[in-house]
Amino acid sequence: MTDVARSAKLTLDGKDYTLPVLTPSAGPEVLDIRKLYAEADVFTFDPGFTSTAACESAITFIDGDLGELLHRGYPIEQLAAESTHLELCYLLLYGELPNAAQLADFTARVTKHTMVHEQMHNFFRGFRRDAHPMATMVGVVGAMSAFYHDSLDINDPWQREVASIRMIAKLPTIAAMAYKYSVGQPFVYPKNSLSFAGNFLNMCFSVPAEDYVVNPVLEKAMDRIMMLHADHEQNASTSTVRLAGSSGANPFACIAAGIACLWGPAHGGANQACLEMLREIGTVDRIPEYIAKAKDKTSGFRLMGFGHRVYKNFDPRATVMKESADEVLGLLGIENNPTLQVAKELERIALQDDYFISKKLYPNVDFYSGIILDAMGFPTSMFTPIFAISRTVGWISQWKEMIAESNQKIGRPRQLYVGSPKRDYVNIRNR
Ligand code: SDX
Repeated sequence: MTDVARSAKLTLDGKDYTLPVLTPSAGPEVLDIRKLYAEADVFTFDPGFTSTAACESAITFIDGDLGELLHRGYPIEQLAAESTHLELCYLLLYGELPNAAQLADFTARVTKHTMVHEQMHNFFRGFRRDAHPMATMVGVVGAMSAFYHDSLDINDPWQREVASIRMIAKLPTIAAMAYKYSVGQPFVYPKNSLSFAGNFLNMCFSVPAEDYVVNPVLEKAMDRIMMLHADHEQNASTSTVRLAGSSGANPFACIAAGIACLWGPAHGGANQACLEMLREIGTVDRIPEYIAKAKDKTSGFRLMGFGHRVYKNFDPRATVMKESADEVLGLLGIENNPTLQVAKELERIALQDDYFISKKLYPNVDFYSGIILDAMGFPTSMFTPIFAISRTVGWISQWKEMIAESNQKIGRPRQLYVGSPKRDYVNIRNR
């Protein structure tokens, strides 16, 4: 969107350059610098992209100051309360909420793709049993491009659609297989009679030796956790998927790249790191010691699950997650869970501390999610794989949006070069 009436002026070495101002439907205006290098022979410099819009998107919007998250305009609080993960998948992919017939058809299409090619079972045997499930998922999801040759052509809209449905449907199966392999239990096949979340719980926790009944409280909480992680503008892993996709790489390879990026503790790996931190703190009387460490730059320690590049207010997902933690642990009769008590007290103390107030550091989506997942019986190593299952629809939606752009081009940032000026080679005899 361009408002040609508005522009900014840059003056460099006495010469003026006009930068058009692009007007969004929400959020900050954008200075269009696409012609800057050609006209002024200068780059802009923004490591970490703190002030850079890398693309145009209509999928998700975050207002960091208000603590607002919208998916295609709908607030996450309303979606978490009223919708389901598969309905949110439809909304993110196609832009509108489905009617009953559209949702039934979409659900059926996803359900029919939940099994993986039987030969993919062999991949797991090649991993150590103690491999982190994220390592397994990066490998197996990337290997999907060796199996689904009829959905690799990114220029064919039908193949893009099939690849999208396949990944949304198969990621839970692959994550569950990674978990089962790590605990030495047999893989459990998907059950099409179960819901998306119920099927995932069944694939993780049922065993051949006895019947497993999905707990409706855990099923609803699992589905809500999946909704809360579905998409989040141009975060690190989504930007990774977009950059990988910009070269024309096949969709499975792009999602594998996103999984790899999500694994980092500064990003999706924070949910595992946060629960491990809360367990290390152990009791509320040790919280001040950790708050002091988090404020001490030399400690290298940060409060995991706290802070966010965009939110300078409460992460609305954390608010919903905290309510869900109270509800789920209460229904499970473990409302006095010591880790939950430590988390709540840590949040209370931190939010009264000037260090966190001045830097606008609030709990993020990862602060409470691990407490719920732990109560469900998942090991901490499965927390980020569950984030990946959920974020697959966000990655795919953003990838499809980018591929469909008429002016789509390969992403290729430049740099501020601070290395050696040109010099001649010196033969080793003279060194
Ligand atoms: C996710 O981008 C997304 O949308 C991501 C995500 C998504 O849905 O995709 O929301 C998911 O990744 C959530 C974030 C999970 N990560 C963590 O919880 C790890 C702990 N948090 C941080 O490391 C940090 O807050 C980040 C990585 C989340 C954000 O880092 P920024 O925006 O680069 O900010 P920064 O590192 O420059 O920190 C600003 C200041 C610094 O102090 P000063 O140098 O200004 O003195 O705040 C301090 C930091 O030291 N700070 C913290 C802190 N987070 C930031 N100090 C203590 N504890 C923390 N958690």
